Amino acid sequence: MSAPAVTPVITIDGPGGSGKGTVSRRVAAALGFHLLDSGAIYRVAALACVRQGVALDDVAAAAEVASTMQVSFEVLGDRTGVALGGVDVSDEVPLESTGSLASQVAKHGEVRDAVLGLQRRFRRAPGLVADGRDMGTVVFADALCKVYLTASVEERARRRYQQLTDQGLRVTLDDLTSSIRARDARDMGREIAPLRPADDALSIDSTSLPIESVCEQVLAYYAKRVAQYPQ
Ligand code: C5P
Repeated sequence: MSAPAVTPVITIDGPGGSGKGTVSRRVAAALGFHLLDSGAIYRVAALACVRQGVALDDVAAAAEVASTMQVSFEVLGDRTGVALGGVDVSDEVPLESTGSLASQVAKHGEVRDAVLGLQRRFRRAPGLVADGRDMGTVVFADALCKVYLTASVEERARRRYQQLTDQGLRVTLDDLTSSIRARDARDMGREIAPLRPADDALSIDSTSLPIESVCEQVLAYYAKRVAQYPQ
């Protein structure tokens, strides 16, 4: 009897504003794969804590909220619909303030453990593209194809600014730059699952690359990995 086929995973990790979300969405669409935006899970966990009046540094209570929250995702073209306990929170999830709350709740190992199973359940045939901070290092450490995507802080702040103002939100470039720097420091400096490239990841600096070219590089790298390690 032959071994059961392993569902392929492409992990795309990197700091906020590096283009992970857009690249993941396009690569998943090109391959017909499922999509996991793991940052959205931490964002919803933070929102759920705020709604329930749980302090983000109350580790046990925050982990309890994260393990019991009822969250659902729906990919809608180039955005994702998110519901928490049946209530649409799609507008609150992308806010930079929500990202900042998420990075405070995401530093606790108990909270990360609480959402591990939820993340891994996204791995379904024919394949998954998972974007986040620790997709290649922890959650899908056995992934066939790992990418680490980065860009300068200035360029990432500029992209975030464009994205949020396009959605009609009022933000300033200075505020975004400081928030992104603070989040980088928290995400890279935390003890558990810090943001770093997996040893076997392909690193791409997207500072001066068009998004199409990043997607082409990821797809070419995936094809190379499939040829190297047929499943
Ligand atoms: O990617 P996004 O900006 O949506 O992530 C929001 C926050 O969630 C990050 O700053 C990080 O602290 C946390 N996160 C994480 N691990 C992931 C994805 C996101 O710790 N896999």
